[in-house]
Amino acid sequence: MQTIRDKAALAALIDSWKSAGDRIALVPTMGALHAGHMALVAEARRRAPRVAVSIFVNPMQFGAGEDLERYPRREQADSRMLADAGVDLLWLPPVEAMYPAGFSTTVSIAGVSDGLDGAARPGHFDGVATVVTKLFNQVRADVALFGEKDFQQLAVIRRMVADLDMGIEIVGVPTQRDDDGLALSSRNLYLAPEDRAAAVALPRALGVAAGAIGKGGDPAAALAQARAALAAAGFAVDYVTLVDAETLSEAIEPGRPMRLLAAAKIGSTRLIDNIPVITR
Ligand code: PAF
Repeated sequence: MQTIRDKAALAALIDSWKSAGDRIALVPTMGALHAGHMALVAEARRRAPRVAVSIFVNPMQFGAGEDLERYPRREQADSRMLADAGVDLLWLPPVEAMYPAGFSTTVSIAGVSDGLDGAARPGHFDGVATVVTKLFNQVRADVALFGEKDFQQLAVIRRMVADLDMGIEIVGVPTQRDDDGLALSSRNLYLAPEDRAAAVALPRALGVAAGAIGKGGDPAAALAQARAALAAAGFAVDYVTLVDAETLSEAIEPGRPMRLLAAAKIGSTRLIDNIPVITR
């Protein structure tokens, strides 16, 4: 695996892959890698002979008072995991290369970015869209892979790629979970043992609500029950909501795919999760 921190060296390597006609898959990450990221890498390897992974803790997507400073950084361990997984390129841009003095551009996707985490974290999806655009331009990949765990992020990126004719295939990879159902996330590292034990209430509440709605139950009642179950487990609930799986609108037309999304805080850690609603 080649590890590159310099834009000119990256451009030269990508040029050589392009000249050889190699298809390139990109897995953008912020590091602190876990089995969820490695599932993205495994899917990337199935889709392209050249796999690039970027690790960049993107300051632009963290709001004031969020966890930019304490976000876990584990470069050596991450690098070993990626090399063992057969990754060809680890792209590790320094902050100054991504946001040099005078940097003035923001990529902003209206609508799909606005509610849910967009409302709770103003500017977050502008930061994500801007850095992902830069990573796409730098790596010039044919396909990029993102986890369904960040479902709104995936919807924002799909909208951006379609709207701006970016010509890159976007693949969503199902959420990887611990044995008890908690979605894997780098932020799970923050959880105190008692909060980690209580956190299982999040996937459970979503599972119960999705099951009830899928069987034709009243969505409002199912969502209220999920919020109550989370509160009883010690969560401060931000949202539990049923949306159209593509537009993320709460106005759902009959026959459209549905997704249940939730965000809630346990201790000082904000967790998000989502699952599809399968109607029977
Ligand atoms: O999902 C993430 O880890 C980040 O939001 C991403 C897509 C790498 C952009 O910084």
